[in-house]
Amino acid sequence: MNGILFSNLLCIMFSCSACWYSSATKLGKCPQCGAFGSFVQVAHSAKTSKSKHTRKQWSVLSAGKSTVTSRFRTLANTELQRVLQQGVKQGGIYLLWWEPGIGKSTIIVQILQDLISHNDMHIQYFTGEEQPNQIKDRRERINPDDKTPLQKTQIYHSTHIEDILTTAEDQHPDLIVIDSIQTIYSEHNDSSAGSPNQVKYCAEKLSEFGKKHNCTIIIIGHVTKGGEIAWPKYLEHIVDVVLYLEGDRFGQLRFLRGQKNRFGHTDDSGIFEMTLFGLQPVYDIKERILQAASTMPWSVLSIWLDNGRPVITQVEVLLNKTKYKFPQRNCIGVDNKRVDMVIAILERYLKINIWLFDVFVNVPGEFDFRDSGIDLAIAAGIYSQYTNQTVPKDTIFVGELALSGKIVTSRLHAKRVKEVPDGFALQDHNNMKYIVEIKTLFG
Ligand code: TYD
Ligand code: MG
Repeated sequence: MNGILFSNLLCIMFSCSACWYSSATKLGKCPQCGAFGSFVQVAHSAKTSKSKHTRKQWSVLSAGKSTVTSRFRTLANTELQRVLQQGVKQGGIYLLWWEPGIGKSTIIVQILQDLISHNDMHIQYFTGEEQPNQIKDRRERINPDDKTPLQKTQIYHSTHIEDILTTAEDQHPDLIVIDSIQTIYSEHNDSSAGSPNQVKYCAEKLSEFGKKHNCTIIIIGHVTKGGEIAWPKYLEHIVDVVLYLEGDRFGQLRFLRGQKNRFGHTDDSGIFEMTLFGLQPVYDIKERILQAASTMPWSVLSIWLDNGRPVITQVEVLLNKTKYKFPQRNCIGVDNKRVDMVIAILERYLKINIWLFDVFVNVPGEFDFRDSGIDLAIAAGIYSQYTNQTVPKDTIFVGELALSGKIVTSRLHAKRVKEVPDGFALQDHNNMKYIVEIKTLFG
């Protein structure tokens, strides 16, 4: 079908399901994101009558506290509270997204339990994926001893946005959960459930409802690795808060991170562990990492930023004489390109031949680094392996390496420094100006 068809006030358009670029024709390759075969048909209602214009009320932007009553419900779980800061806002629109099976429904049930255990709240949980009994079972599994009455939490199996909003309109809940937005559809929209158009339309309707009735809305959304990873970007404008729950699905740790927050900052993360009783907060991450590192004399300690939260970490490095024409660079939990850069800097300024070795860098603990502040730790690990000497004991390396060989201040350095445990020495740009000085630490 070519061009735009106007029939019964419906305008047919095509949209890229990866980035939502719109076009009047179905394109084979998206000009915006380059995806192939990603165009799906979407329908827009064509407005033929001129819309009425109304005069808007204005308000003065003045100093002092807002007169709008903003009510936050705080959470007892401090790992959740550090991500949401003031708590869950009445009338706030929240989006929680990531891959299936990571624990989104679990953490939402825990948030609800936390809220109702010290707030008198009426909650409606709409599930399109599971049966209501499965949600109840999950709640019992997480906290079998919890006898908090749940009369004020209603669970519905529904996938129809008009039914959901009518039900909510009748009962005036304080909070609605949608699990998940991909399963919801509107009868006023031609595309199938889960399509970009439906997802956006339903999220807009939910947001309108939340703002009109001062009802908190929590929307759960899935992305599949390598799949429609772009759609949460398009809901970002519709919602107030975007959170994602990341982690290795087959490992235990989960990181709850803020991506957008109209009510606070996004410089923090909550660390959880998937247990037999749901996602338990991990309060002793520092002790765990120090304990693990104490058994590995070759590992190097550093402090990295997880969404702005400083967390102590260990970096393991191994150098092996290469058997290949081109030496291997294998990195888990760190960016290969950063490691290549650190190797190049070491070769250039310390005059060592790392090209004779395969280099393996591993960051245990399911972390995934995009943080240049651990450059110095990687350099210390490689140099220690190269010279066959252990890294100085009880030392933390924090610093970014510049191509000039200079050690530069890592981002939010002061915040990281506060995380250095008692009795540990810090090696950073204050102790060493240039990477060549690292030699002095190794006798
Ligand atoms: P779930 O919250 O259903 O994930 P999502 O909503 O993101 O798809 O959690 C999925 C996994 O978590 C599932 O494989 C089982 C596991 N799990 C536990 O290990 N312990 C628990 O107490 C719960 C509730 C789930
Ligand atoms: Mg789920």
